[in-house]
Amino acid sequence: MNHLERTDLKDKKVGLRVDLNVPIENGEILSHERLSAALPSILYILKRTKKLCVITHLGRPKEGEFDIDLSVLPIKKWFEKRLNEEIDLINNFENIPDNVCFMENIRFFNGENDNDKNLSEQIAKAFDVYVMDAFATAHRAAASTLGAIKFSKNACSGLLFSEEIKNLESALKENKQILSIVGGSKISTKLKVIHNLLPNSSAIVVGGGIANTFLKAAGNSIGKSIVEDDMLDKAKELLSTNKIVLPKHVYVAETPQSNKVDLIPIEDVPENQMILDIELNENKISQNEEYIIWNGPLGIFEIDKFSNGTKQLIAFLENSKSKVIAGGGETLFAINKFSDTSKFHYVSTAGGAFLEYLSGNNLPSIEALRLK
Ligand code: 3PG
Repeated sequence: MNHLERTDLKDKKVGLRVDLNVPIENGEILSHERLSAALPSILYILKRTKKLCVITHLGRPKEGEFDIDLSVLPIKKWFEKRLNEEIDLINNFENIPDNVCFMENIRFFNGENDNDKNLSEQIAKAFDVYVMDAFATAHRAAASTLGAIKFSKNACSGLLFSEEIKNLESALKENKQILSIVGGSKISTKLKVIHNLLPNSSAIVVGGGIANTFLKAAGNSIGKSIVEDDMLDKAKELLSTNKIVLPKHVYVAETPQSNKVDLIPIEDVPENQMILDIELNENKISQNEEYIIWNGPLGIFEIDKFSNGTKQLIAFLENSKSKVIAGGGETLFAINKFSDTSKFHYVSTAGGAFLEYLSGNNLPSIEALRLK
């Protein structure tokens, strides 16, 4: 794979694909992680050439239509302040200026989502060097994340892209023993992740709605808790590996809105209650692994009274001697709410792409860059 640091940029026209898909409300940017994470590549390139065009998508607009709410304007302004220079906002690949500019939301362009050949070629032709730094979008086969790499005469990975792969590979690709922690609401969306992590995991700690399905499969009464009955056989299969760590105590309430919340042993869940959070079964968790991989919260952490399990997990991970690698949209949100990404060995900027990577799937952008 070609890397930015091994690419000659002097006086070259550079297209940089980043993932600045962040929540924005009334023009206010609500999360800055992905913006800050894009800075190292931007600064690296600007030291070598001023002819830089930054390209990102934002949200899921209707293709071919401009949507003011999904314009990259607020993001461009954030970078203007950070870089202390004016940045043009442009909306086509024909006349790219010879100074720093931002391309309008790439998903406004016809053909982006379908990896259209014409758009891919247009993007590729507009630049001497095309830098792919949008790891969080590496799982999408789009014109700016796949086609442009393919057609570019000189494509390489950016600093963040390489950093993400290096960290994930170090834990997953060298047959290291890991401890996995998988939460979230549905076992069906994490099944491939669990299967892929299983061989190298000493244990897989489950929480969130996923734990309910495992608990029921193990013969526990789970009251009115949300469960995926069609996943019970799969859950039983996974339990037979003896690697799945179930909670011993859970937080229950009649509904998520109820004020009365009880922490009770798993054997005592009443018929009219639902499990909405868990207590981390710390005694069952070995601390000898070099790496811990975490994806998914352990309860409905957005509601304070059901955030104990996730907070307890975060405190446990912060103090762990293992190298903790965390990722996923909700996971990052929980870390920002209760802690700080700097307290972890590595926190990925990716949501869907992180899960695809953990599932062992090939990510189109990575494959395309490997062929260059
Ligand atoms: C993300 O936020 O996970 C990425 O930017 C991909 O966004 P998408 O799911 O809209 O393709």
